[in-house]
Amino acid sequence: MRTLSYLIYLACFVFFYEICSAPKTLLRLEYHAELIASDHATNKNEGTKLSQSLKDGKNLFKAHCASCHHKNMKDKLLGPPLKGAEERWSAYPKSDLFDWIKNAPALKAKNHPKAIEISNYSNIEMTIFPTLTDEEILQLLEWIAFKSQLPD
Ligand code: HEC
Repeated sequence: MRTLSYLIYLACFVFFYEICSAPKTLLRLEYHAELIASDHATNKNEGTKLSQSLKDGKNLFKAHCASCHHKNMKDKLLGPPLKGAEERWSAYPKSDLFDWIKNAPALKAKNHPKAIEISNYSNIEMTIFPTLTDEEILQLLEWIAFKSQLPD
């Protein structure tokens, strides 16, 4: 009789153990699926990162440049259209364009030929942006190039 009750206990134990571990197996599967999903998410983030930096460039442009430079990059405003600006500076080290964006009057004061040439555009001096980082200027240039090739 005792053996029988042990067997029943054992059967119950096995039964409940199975019931209890089933969700664990499910959980493990879910966890695995999550891992795979997060892998995909990381890959996607690479893409989102790119478009995020374009978004950052757009926001920087709106905040700092759009008051003087037309946002379509093709029409004149207080400042010249920025489409093709990088190409126009391509005869000079890239850092010159960065210097211009950070502090245009200073580059002009150094008699930089390109700075002198652009200054003929108007009597308005470009605002100085000493706090813009190189990363932000890259994002701005990326946005300018991107927007320039879009139809209006
Ligand atoms: C106060 C108005 C003003 C603001 C704000 C301004 N600019 Fe300018 N920008 C000018 C003017 C005016 C010129 C033409 C040079 C001149 O007349 O001194 C110019 C010229 C430039 C050039 C040279 C264009 C070329 O063809 O080589 C670049 C590049 C430029 N700006 C980028 C920017 C960026 C980027 C911002 C924002 C971070 C900005 N500017 C904000 C007025 C402005």
